[in-house]
Amino acid sequence: MFKALSGMSPSAHCVFVFSLCYLCGLIPCKVEHEDFELDDFKKETKKCFQKMIKIKNNRFLVVDEEGLKFKERNKEQCKADDCRFNIQVYRTNDIDRPRGSAVILSVTSPCKQTYMVCCEKNGDQKGVSAKPLDQPLPDQIGRSKHEAVFYMELIPGTSQYRFNSSLWCSWYLSFEDGPEAALMKLVLREVHKDVDENCSMDLLTC
Ligand SMILES: *[C@@H]1O[C@H](CO)[C@@H](O)[C@H](O)[C@H]1NC(C)=O
Ligand SMILES: *[C@@H]1O[C@H](CO)[C@@H](O)[C@H](O)[C@H]1NC(C)=O
Repeated sequence: MFKALSGMSPSAHCVFVFSLCYLCGLIPCKVEHEDFELDDFKKETKKCFQKMIKIKNNRFLVVDEEGLKFKERNKEQCKADDCRFNIQVYRTNDIDRPRGSAVILSVTSPCKQTYMVCCEKNGDQKGVSAKPLDQPLPDQIGRSKHEAVFYMELIPGTSQYRFNSSLWCSWYLSFEDGPEAALMKLVLREVHKDVDENCSMDLLTC
């Protein structure tokens, strides 16, 4: 064995010694696993863009201290920050990854609080909320399912997008009539079809 060792290059030597230690249980398994995390998300620092999210009837997704809703907006009102969403792309190594890019959506309210769009459970009901964000978005997420990560898919044959939750398989950002006619609520809806008009959103350049 020592004869074999002396004939090795220094790096091969290291690998050999490392393997030996590993086999002997001297190095905990955690070290090995670091290269094997296939499921996590990594922030693509250069891939962040700002868009307005529009649905039918000229309604735009906006945030205020009460949360997220769709409101009618004219061109002038669209200059406000509360409808300009930052779409941060995350890289994923998952081979079986779903359609689209993994993204986190965040937006700043008129009171200068930044929020991120998150899936949440209210009793048995699945929903969406605006979660206050006091730090920059995480650089890395060590899980394949996360409350704020959505897969942004281009709907085939259109220029519209839909957002598939990474937390709950086949649940999409969607909208529903709210208590007031002018407002529509942002909700999460389970969808198994390729096209559902109630999940289709336009992304407009700010
Ligand atoms: C939606 O995302 C889930 C993961 O949360 C995935 O299993 C499913 O295949 C995705 N749907 C599509 C149409 O990509
Ligand atoms: C989409 O929304 C409209 C109005 O809110 C509703 O009438 C319709 O049934 C919804 N479609 C689906 C597929 O849920």
